[in-house]
Amino acid sequence: MKWPADRISQSSPKSFGMYEKAMPMMAAGVDLIHLEVGRPSFDTPVHIKEATKKALDDGLVHYGDFAGDIGLREALAGKIQSYNKLNPTPDEILITNGLTHAAYAVFMAALDEGDEVILLEPYYPQHINKIELAGGKVITAPLDRNNGFRVDKDAIAARITDKTKMIAIVNPANPTGRVYTREELESIAELAIEHDLMVVSDEVYEQILYDGNKHISIATLPGMWDRTFSMFAFTKAFAMDGWRMGYVTCKKDFMPAIMKISVSDVAHVNVFIQEGARAAITGPQECLAEMVKEDDRRRRLVCRRMNEMKGVVCPNPEGTIYAFPDVSAVGKSSAQIADEILEQAHIVVEDGGFYGPTGAGHLRICFGAESYEVIEQAMDKLQDYFAKQG
Ligand SMILES: Cc1ncc(COP(=O)(O)O)c(C=O)c1O
Repeated sequence: MKWPADRISQSSPKSFGMYEKAMPMMAAGVDLIHLEVGRPSFDTPVHIKEATKKALDDGLVHYGDFAGDIGLREALAGKIQSYNKLNPTPDEILITNGLTHAAYAVFMAALDEGDEVILLEPYYPQHINKIELAGGKVITAPLDRNNGFRVDKDAIAARITDKTKMIAIVNPANPTGRVYTREELESIAELAIEHDLMVVSDEVYEQILYDGNKHISIATLPGMWDRTFSMFAFTKAFAMDGWRMGYVTCKKDFMPAIMKISVSDVAHVNVFIQEGARAAITGPQECLAEMVKEDDRRRRLVCRRMNEMKGVVCPNPEGTIYAFPDVSAVGKSSAQIADEILEQAHIVVEDGGFYGPTGAGHLRICFGAESYEVIEQAMDKLQDYFAKQG
């Protein structure tokens, strides 16, 4: 009996990074501060929960529309039009189980065996397995830390071959916290159009922006709607990570293939959860600004404190819930530093090398998952740790 299938054994090993290393300590009852997991600390806003409870009480418990509830898709078409400046019809939107399901359905629908997908590095590692399971090959285009991890058109162009099918981007970027400018996105768009490539755009952090930075959906650039899959989720902005609600929009011609994968996979998304999502989109939006304001307060705390630490340089992230401090001056690898911080300070931070070799020398610190007070305690402990180095 052969087990598992080649598509499993030949794909990259799955890793959950430092969380995996912290697990034995957690099991042993050690009290850890978690700055590695990228989830919001806030509770889901009350009106979203109420709408979901009402949907259950109203008997929304049976099969629904495969693409997602039409009322929700209409509401999302409005949001995408006003916020993202795209004009999809409800038929050009598929409701998914978080952005994860959207990305998997897109890669599965788009990729033939051996097709190459270019990821900007440092990358979001969880896209790698999806691409590989879909038969694709990941090609990474390293961005230069000395240039603030700006999009490097030449680095991408140098990796385009006759097998390249897609460029996949995460904007705002996890782990670097970059919010790509129009010029940076234009350089990706120029390559995509010149080489007739598709673009997969993960915009899960589209609403978590600081210092006046503006989010631009790459599909709004001339010629890009016809070749872009724009993926979003309720996960981060509405503190709904456990709800598993996301959506993808693309031109109508692409939809039947994506639907074929999605329907085979999950049939459709839970119907009463979609009512909560509808309340999130159509209800009051102040909660969103309040959460971003608190994330910003934590971001400022982390950047100010980390920049005071010996050997650490921490640029201000422009968006997301991650700081990506450079610790290369400490004189140890970032992997060793992350291990020591876990063992000695009982804080879990991610090694930048988890996001590809270009990320090594950095740590990824999530400031969205713990309260201001807990982050303050973590900063005190990190300060002690870095003070003892070299
Ligand atoms: C860049 C990026 N994409 C996708 C996801 C997963 O989104 P979801 O929980 O909606 O599947 C995350 C979660 O951390 C993320 O950081």
